Amino acid sequence: MSPSDFTPRVFSGIQPSGDLHLGNYLGAIKRFVSMQEDAYETVYCMVDLHAITVWQDPAALRHNTRELAAGFIASGISPEKSILINQSQVPEHAQLAWIFNCVARMGWMKRMTQFKDKAGKNAEAASLGLFGYPALMAADILVYHATHVPVGDDQKQHLELTRDIATKFNHDYGVDFFPLTEPVIKGAATRVMSLRDGAKKMSKSDPSDASRINMTDDADTIAKKIRKAKTDPHALPSEAAGLEDRPEARNLVNIYAALNDQTVEAVLAEVGGQQFGTFKPLLAELAVAKLSPISQEMARLMADPAEIDRILARGAGQAREITVPILEKTYEIVGMVR
Ligand code: TRP
Repeated sequence: MSPSDFTPRVFSGIQPSGDLHLGNYLGAIKRFVSMQEDAYETVYCMVDLHAITVWQDPAALRHNTRELAAGFIASGISPEKSILINQSQVPEHAQLAWIFNCVARMGWMKRMTQFKDKAGKNAEAASLGLFGYPALMAADILVYHATHVPVGDDQKQHLELTRDIATKFNHDYGVDFFPLTEPVIKGAATRVMSLRDGAKKMSKSDPSDASRINMTDDADTIAKKIRKAKTDPHALPSEAAGLEDRPEARNLVNIYAALNDQTVEAVLAEVGGQQFGTFKPLLAELAVAKLSPISQEMARLMADPAEIDRILARGAGQAREITVPILEKTYEIVGMVR
């Protein structure tokens, strides 16, 4: 079966490992919000089981899961339009992951570049969960028969693995049960880079807090970080080609365009010829206007964690209406006595 034979359904996940930043918002969450307006069912997940593949302090994990939920909701993910869950409350994810551990081959898993990057030199000390991470991710997606998965470029290989697992399962058991999920990879335009180095992705693991805008930063902090962002001494070009060898300039223009839902060309038509001394205050003003309502709403939601927990419990209930029958059918196909 091709994905078009299945109900169009979007699934995506983010790890609740703390410090939600502008890169997560513009690169992922904003797109999640817009997809819920399209003709898809949308399921968005805080992947807490994935987070613990590396050590997480329990209190911090709990806080970060709720904060990510607050970030999703404050950014416009509506619990009325989307199913919003944390992974561990929908046990079928982990149950299907076990089946997929038995489908995926060691050779496939050993080729996963994210494992190699994350495990680093001392792969012997990495958790078995970190090695199995992509099989759980495949289960996240396929336990919903999701047809479309919006992710960053770095997750492409995991989505190929998801298709390989679905193909092998369908082939081994002689069924047409799991769809071949389509990745929806975002373009480079929405990749947000560090404010200190235009060649590096904006990341929570960068030791310099000035390199990123956190979704919890207040207006003054946002403005200060933009004022101090690295640039070059030239004026802004009036066409996109003029940004080619200017990674820092390109990043700031990209951020402006993404925040304002404009193309880079449209932004440059307005600001071409400006010096950074003029452009940065404009960008700061825009960033504060767009982000401070979100951070204020996050703070409001975080003041009432019980309400967040109720939303997640309700999401889990809705999710399980989808995942329980798919897991049941999977067990039946595999030959488990029920
Ligand atoms: N691995 C993804 C990341 O690090 C997070 C994730 C887990 C995910 N399960 C998923 C993304 C399923 C999309 C679909 O970004």
